[in-house]
Amino acid sequence: MKRVEFQMKVLLYLLVLISTPLLAASPEAIYGKTGMVTSRSALASAAGLEIMKAGGNAVDGAVATAFALAVTYPSAGNLGGGGFAIVRLANGKVVTLDHRETAPASASRDMYLDSEGNIIKNLSTASHKSTGTPGSVDGLITLLEAYGSLSIKKVIAPAIRLAEKGFPLSHDLARQFNKVLNKMDQHPGSVKTFSKNGVPYEEGDIWRQPELAKTLERIALSGRDGFYKGKTADLIVAEMQRGDGEITLNDLANYKSIWRKPIRGMYRGYDIYGMAPPSSGGALVIQILNMIEPYDVSAMGFGSAKAIHLMVEAERRAYADRAEHLGDPDYYDVPIAMLTDKQYAAQRFADFDSGKASKSEDIDAGHWLEESSETTHFSVYKEGMMVALTTTLNSAYGNKIVVQDAGFLLNNEMDDFSIKENSPNQYSVIGREANSIAPGKRMLSSMSPTLVLKDGQPFLITGSPGGSTIITTVLQVIVNIIDHGMSIEDAVSLPRFHHQWLPDRIIYGKYGISPDTLEVLKKMGHIGFKEASWGRGIGDANSIMISDSVISGIKDPRNDGAALAY
Ligand code: DON
Repeated sequence: MKRVEFQMKVLLYLLVLISTPLLAASPEAIYGKTGMVTSRSALASAAGLEIMKAGGNAVDGAVATAFALAVTYPSAGNLGGGGFAIVRLANGKVVTLDHRETAPASASRDMYLDSEGNIIKNLSTASHKSTGTPGSVDGLITLLEAYGSLSIKKVIAPAIRLAEKGFPLSHDLARQFNKVLNKMDQHPGSVKTFSKNGVPYEEGDIWRQPELAKTLERIALSGRDGFYKGKTADLIVAEMQRGDGEITLNDLANYKSIWRKPIRGMYRGYDIYGMAPPSSGGALVIQILNMIEPYDVSAMGFGSAKAIHLMVEAERRAYADRAEHLGDPDYYDVPIAMLTDKQYAAQRFADFDSGKASKSEDIDAGHWLEESSETTHFSVYKEGMMVALTTTLNSAYGNKIVVQDAGFLLNNEMDDFSIKENSPNQYSVIGREANSIAPGKRMLSSMSPTLVLKDGQPFLITGSPGGSTIITTVLQVIVNIIDHGMSIEDAVSLPRFHHQWLPDRIIYGKYGISPDTLEVLKKMGHIGFKEASWGRGIGDANSIMISDSVISGIKDPRNDGAALAY
């Protein structure tokens, strides 16, 4: 199908779906007066907007968007994964909800090692054993019950409709399905979902997911019990038994998301609210901001060698702390107060030399997967209420295993544990005792849904996918706006760079560092450089900014999706 024809089809579909015309859509920043959703899927953004227009608040809109993403963006939108949400209520209170997966009760520290202590290839990423007990459904329902204003039946309705009636596959999705299909041939449920009886889908085909629609209907009818008990739970356990997986009915029945105290920092007078462990995101964003705050980043200029050097040196130190100190706080004493303290940052950064790179330990901890990995972040705003929600199956399409007859994919989040001390995971980050596996424990994350307030008022909602690069993506969106005074459009769109201590190298998006800037950085002693070759650059920061009562938002132009407003 021709691209124009396809776009017309999707537009017509969107118009039918949201019943009133769209006022605006990405890729440019769009503006709104009342509410906005920006996500990786136009159909999911439309679902969130539909619910807010029907009287729902931003939490209702976010829950509707998340359930719709599980239908329209299966790579990362999910029922079988987990995530983190941060919400600012209209009364100013900020809360965070951890709905990260947990290690099943039978999990053990060395479960991915052979008898000689070596990592068994692919076991923590591409097997039934790689799955942590899913947290998304409990998380979304917990959010809705606490702060939403509509029923689960109402907010899940657009997702059910999308699964039942189907929708035309975009070029992007059809391409993804065909790429991932060859990794699914061991899993009949997956082949059934992502092909037409083994024949690849094409752009423009209507993709229907009747089994997923039934699972969603069970959730609509029975809430969390529609997933964690009864038929859906039985189907998950049956899938586990097909592939020697660990999750039992008890693991499912015992899953609970947890309200955590937000991590709070202050940067140049702005309040930064981030996600607490088991995400490392909030702590690291704030630690890096604390380290760079004494320097005049604005005067250094966007993209200058000086600014890149400063931020890379701060990142190097913060990621080294991540490996040592961060893990599930219910199992390990994470020194959060220290990590987010301005004095600690000053002391940690005291050896910073503005003209010379320091060296990470002299080991290259591994290689970035060229295979794309996936998570997804969306932002929602309405009438003073802000929601940032990042959710994932870990790798793109998780472990590629669809639960037979239930129609949804399972995560491979167990790989986010430190499966062996100092061994890199798929994002090349290493971990230690703090992030070792234990029954019921939550694996460390980099997901960083973030809110920024100015004088106590909503200012910025941001977050991103990208494994370990999530943290530095969020950091750059904040610095671009606060230090460089950029619009949301520029702050999100411009190329990014990333350093994570080990491996000792700067990764940067295409056109992100000019050749002469690279030369300056090399002269300073930076030893490794890599142009990001995956996807369309680093991160996918669907973000919203609120300034002078104007809501401006953008879907990250690196990928499909839409910001929609009214
Ligand atoms: O929680 C984490 O940090 C990872 N599981 C996130 C994975 C991810 O962002 C992959 N996306 N691009």
